[in-house]
Amino acid sequence: MELKSIINNAFKKKSPDELIAVSKKSELKKTLNVFDLIVLGIGAVVGTGIFTIIGSAIQGGPESVGAGPAIIISMILAVIACVFSALCYSEIAAMIPVAGSAYTYTYATMGEFMAWMVGWILMLEYAIGNITVACAWTGYFVQLLKGFKHILPDFVVNFPMWLRNDYRFMFAYCDKYGLDPHTQMPFIFDKIPFAINLPAMVIVLLLTILLVKGVKESTRFASVMVGVNMFMIISFIVVGAFYVKPENWTPFAPNGFEGIFMGAFLIFFAYIGFDAISTTAEETENPQRDLPIAILGTLVICTVLYICVALVLTGNIPLGQIDIQAPIAHAMRAIGKDWFAGLISVGALCALTSVILIYQLGTTRILYAMSRDRFLPKSLRLIHKKYRTPHVLTWISGIIVILCTFFMDLSISAELCNFGTFTSFIIICIAVLILRKTDPERPRPFKVPFSPVFPILGILTCGGLMIYSMKFLTTSSLYFPLWLLIGLAIYAGYGYKQKRLEEKLKGQRRIKPRIEIQVK
Ligand code: ALA
Repeated sequence: MELKSIINNAFKKKSPDELIAVSKKSELKKTLNVFDLIVLGIGAVVGTGIFTIIGSAIQGGPESVGAGPAIIISMILAVIACVFSALCYSEIAAMIPVAGSAYTYTYATMGEFMAWMVGWILMLEYAIGNITVACAWTGYFVQLLKGFKHILPDFVVNFPMWLRNDYRFMFAYCDKYGLDPHTQMPFIFDKIPFAINLPAMVIVLLLTILLVKGVKESTRFASVMVGVNMFMIISFIVVGAFYVKPENWTPFAPNGFEGIFMGAFLIFFAYIGFDAISTTAEETENPQRDLPIAILGTLVICTVLYICVALVLTGNIPLGQIDIQAPIAHAMRAIGKDWFAGLISVGALCALTSVILIYQLGTTRILYAMSRDRFLPKSLRLIHKKYRTPHVLTWISGIIVILCTFFMDLSISAELCNFGTFTSFIIICIAVLILRKTDPERPRPFKVPFSPVFPILGILTCGGLMIYSMKFLTTSSLYFPLWLLIGLAIYAGYGYKQKRLEEKLKGQRRIKPRIEIQVK
């Protein structure tokens, strides 16, 4: 009986009407239009994936083989998985335009427990993904400083490695080059190694301050960043196109299907972010019309750009020479355009900055929705009196990312982020199928075409890529279930109890008026 009631509670759903009613009372300002959303989308999507991870997707990573020039096939595979999920996102986001993205939609379809787990998984996508981006930001920042080596003093250009890497990297670096760690970084009390990724920390801190000041201000800033990085990518394609040597495209797929699939898994990171658009549904002027346009528009624009970048990159230099840390800038240097490589670093920094900004925004909006549902303490969702932003949560998510840069590694965080995102996409596809059955009459301003075929294809493509890559990525496929278990423990120890307390209080509030009537 006890177990039965626990199960019943864990699967309690929120009706879409209830969600919409709560969001109508929202204190968040409705200021975003379709242009703002596409800027947000491109700002969230174009970043580490195309500027950094594309190198490992082509060449291979620590635990995977590369796709070679067949990366364009990998990109098409990855975008196919995204399009099915994007259509599902659009249907639900237009139907239930509330903050919280996949988390909120899961609450309406699969109940309380799954909603919490999805919120927890989304933290992998947004917060852990942001660590990847912040680490890549440092990489391009260092490249940029190097470009100014004739102007800037040497202590700025070559600032100590322990100020731009985490301690694990420092140990691995010392190990690789046979160096004594004590000569490469300070040790507190001669025992505790001290190494920090200072540029990553500073950029996250600055953007957190900006986000506390307001969403409109942040998207205005993002639009400047997006403008600069679009210009850089298009210039790379135009300039690089003149140096393409078709012989560099052979062998086309040096590692066959394994390379193509692993490439698709890795490059999927480059597409993540369009779903961040739906996290701002409560701040959108006309969500029913604008959300689907913005989500699909963002994916189409990015796919065209990515395929062009991949063709130019693999056509410019022989496969074995493609760089892993800054492939785009390096390709320009390889064809003798050093000055342009410097400009590419500026573009990359702009792209990465806007991704961090939007991911911080997404993290806080999901946490806001979770705290409104009492999975997290109420005090966290305080809205700033002057700026009308959830400042406590904004600070918390900023500080978490800053702390994680002390010990998280770029490739592990990117793989974990991909696992989390694939899982949330699968859940969104399932949610569409469930809502079509349980709530067929609700107006759907946007409908996924060919349902149930498209949502099912979304589940199969995302699930297939995820399961296939787990065979090779042994470290992150161990951390992923661990993350899920921690989430389960938090729900069992805190969230579940808080939800029951909430129900009890609601019940008491309902009884009270009846007593008053009796007294009269
Ligand atoms: N798509 C985002 C990026 O590539 C996460 O940085």
